[in-house]
Amino acid sequence: MIRIRIDNIDIEADEGQTILDAASGAGIHIPTLCHKDGIEHYSSCMVCMVKDNNTNGYKPSCSALAQDGMDIDASGEDVKAIRKQAVEMLLSEHRAECEAPCRVVCPAGYNIPLMNRLLMSGETEKAIELARTEVTTPAILCIDCPGYCENACRRKKADLPISIRNIQLFVSQSINKHKLHKEVENQGGNESVEQKKIKNINPLRKRFSSRIGKLDDKEFKEWLKESTGNGTRIREIPDFRSAGTEAENCMHCDCRSSDDCILRKTAEEFSVKDPSGKLVYAPIEKKINKNTGLIFENAKCIKCGLCVRVCEDNKDEPPLCFIHRGFVSIISEPLTEEFDDILKTKTDICIKVCPTGALGKFK
Ligand code: SF4
Ligand code: SF4
Ligand code: SF4
Ligand code: FES
Repeated sequence: MIRIRIDNIDIEADEGQTILDAASGAGIHIPTLCHKDGIEHYSSCMVCMVKDNNTNGYKPSCSALAQDGMDIDASGEDVKAIRKQAVEMLLSEHRAECEAPCRVVCPAGYNIPLMNRLLMSGETEKAIELARTEVTTPAILCIDCPGYCENACRRKKADLPISIRNIQLFVSQSINKHKLHKEVENQGGNESVEQKKIKNINPLRKRFSSRIGKLDDKEFKEWLKESTGNGTRIREIPDFRSAGTEAENCMHCDCRSSDDCILRKTAEEFSVKDPSGKLVYAPIEKKINKNTGLIFENAKCIKCGLCVRVCEDNKDEPPLCFIHRGFVSIISEPLTEEFDDILKTKTDICIKVCPTGALGKFK
């Protein structure tokens, strides 16, 4: 047993324990991105830095071992500033969007990409339920809206914007009106529609959202891989069938991890704004494994290596690995393999350990 002081709290730690574990045992929060319990340390993100007050040096707490007599600052302003810089560095090469452009500009923040996913997969009841939970005004805001969402829709670069407004209007007609109005009355039925609208400011605008910058033509084609439709476009939406057909053209610009991404949460913890100019402009690519449905989006990868290390004990199937060196190093299938042939049984665990939306399930 050794004695260590963290944030002026005296702690007993085990020999061989990391500073991170010792702090966590005492209830002291240190953010991490490239660390997962049970997976070997790699220490690449530097978001877990702490200060050693005895030496005035900084260490990554996920790999630095606790040593007897250590006096650690895990929460001071200097430490927070270094962590913030580390997050900013990661974001400076993160060409990705947490939220789809259509949803960001929607005054109500309706989850348009999710609605499209539900409609294209025929999940009508869930689509209606989504509308029912999102429409908290007496009437859906699309009625009076000029269609900001369609103006921002990325699909219009290919042909036409998705018929978002008509889709939303059609689905909202299917809401159980009686139930909706009852809920509205309970929430203060005397308010005017205008008052409701003012309250209904899109809450996403207060959240951190990474931005992608301009997509060149090749990158735009990568984005189109997310659109599964055959190109049939429908402007008027009279039924769920046409809603589903039109929704198939959606490029699903939102990030699959927008609700649980640790990078996004950490950016919010340190009040980081997305860097307007990205330092590294790696071309965006979307690789889709046709056998397992794994999708890898290189521009969202923070090169933490967790997906590589979690497969290290498995010799039976080709894993993900790093290729190249320095700034251009990137996660990839091994050079001798096809992306379709990797990670047969390890797909889910790789997605689970990924701290960002770089790995996900295409469907
Ligand atoms: S990986 Fe995280 S930070 Fe990046 S776009 Fe997705 S949610 Fe946002
Ligand atoms: S393509 Fe889909 S997700 Fe992207 S902006 Fe248009 S409606 Fe939204
Ligand atoms: S794909 Fe995910 S888990 Fe793998 S290195 Fe990139 S960010 Fe880390
Ligand atoms: S969590 Fe320690 S360096 Fe990334």
